[in-house]
Amino acid sequence: MDIKLETRCIHGNPSDSLQDENRAISFPIYQTASFSHIKPGHNESGFDYTRESNPTRSRLEEVVSSLEGAAGTVAFASGMAAISACFELFAGGDHIICSEDLYGGVIRLNRVIHLKNGVDTEYVDTTDLQAVRAAIRPNTKAVYIETPSNPMMNITDLRGCAELAHEYGLLLIVDNTFLSPYFQNPLLLGADIVVHSGSKFLAGHNDTISGFLCAKDIELVNKFRLIAKTTGGMLAPFDSWLVMRGIKTLAVRMERQQENAKKVAEWLLKQKQITNVLYPGLKEHKGYEIGVRQTSGFGSMISFYTDSKETALQMLQKVKIVIFAESLGGTESLLTYPALQTHPDVPQEMREHLGITETLLRLSVGLENVEDIIADLEQALDWSRDERV
Ligand SMILES: Cc1ncc(COP(=O)(O)O)c(C=O)c1O
Repeated sequence: MDIKLETRCIHGNPSDSLQDENRAISFPIYQTASFSHIKPGHNESGFDYTRESNPTRSRLEEVVSSLEGAAGTVAFASGMAAISACFELFAGGDHIICSEDLYGGVIRLNRVIHLKNGVDTEYVDTTDLQAVRAAIRPNTKAVYIETPSNPMMNITDLRGCAELAHEYGLLLIVDNTFLSPYFQNPLLLGADIVVHSGSKFLAGHNDTISGFLCAKDIELVNKFRLIAKTTGGMLAPFDSWLVMRGIKTLAVRMERQQENAKKVAEWLLKQKQITNVLYPGLKEHKGYEIGVRQTSGFGSMISFYTDSKETALQMLQKVKIVIFAESLGGTESLLTYPALQTHPDVPQEMREHLGITETLLRLSVGLENVEDIIADLEQALDWSRDERV
């Protein structure tokens, strides 16, 4: 039976899923550190110690695997814990090609941890596959990308990048946070590993932090399980349950947030204080054609430039329904200042090169009535115009 994604958000793959023995509709929270045994050498329940595995987390991992088309998934306490665990695949002397436009936390991870450990990370414009090819060295082990990227919304050709990576025996790792498995399935397009900040669209309610590693190959999944068990960054049972509950409404949230985002992007385009709108769903976006080929939607993340730093700062302070806050993907619309919030640790030269300037704002469009969102942005812009001399 071909079970559609909306159904899998709610039930996972009913054929092979872990079911509650008491047939609870909402899978229980197994709030326990350890599991008892009856006989030495036998593990009746299959569970031992929650750092290693826990039924609530295992159930969530099954649901996420089913959405991403993965052989298996490992859930972590944050997106950064998942990404750090993923980089444990590599050793000193290895070279990793990364999209140059990445969530700032990953750039910090490269500088603070990977550099010290001798893992050489190099930033490349991965929207240009020739540039990726030119960067490959004998010690290159993987290509790590975000598409759409944070915050510049650049689109990398996933099929092309997977073919290129595999031609050289490299792993393709894709951060799928911005579109979620509802709109994009990198593993089905050739990627080897998908990374998620589950704190965003998957959990969807701005109420918990989580992360995932999903892999196509069971050997990679087993490596991730060993790394998670050894380093201990796993997701707690209650948070696993929260994310699982959030995923049940992923499909409807993604659809409505995208519908809202399209209207907001169109509106932003018409405002004279907004000088550029970066939304992959706009035909004029440079990644639009590739996006159409590899995704089933464009999501609800928009970055835009204001005409001055003053306009940007005043918008941030003046919004009333939209919230000036870091993060994305939840029910609430959030307006973020990348230069100060998500990318402050990125060296200024690199920020300037990427276009992360003091006039760039990032908007995660939520589930409020879109007329209220637009009216709120409008009053924030009007106020800044009135106050200007
Ligand atoms: C694209 C992307 N990947 C990874 C992360 C890190 O996730 P977390 O905050 O859950 O550690 C973030 C956080 O904003 C992100 O935007």
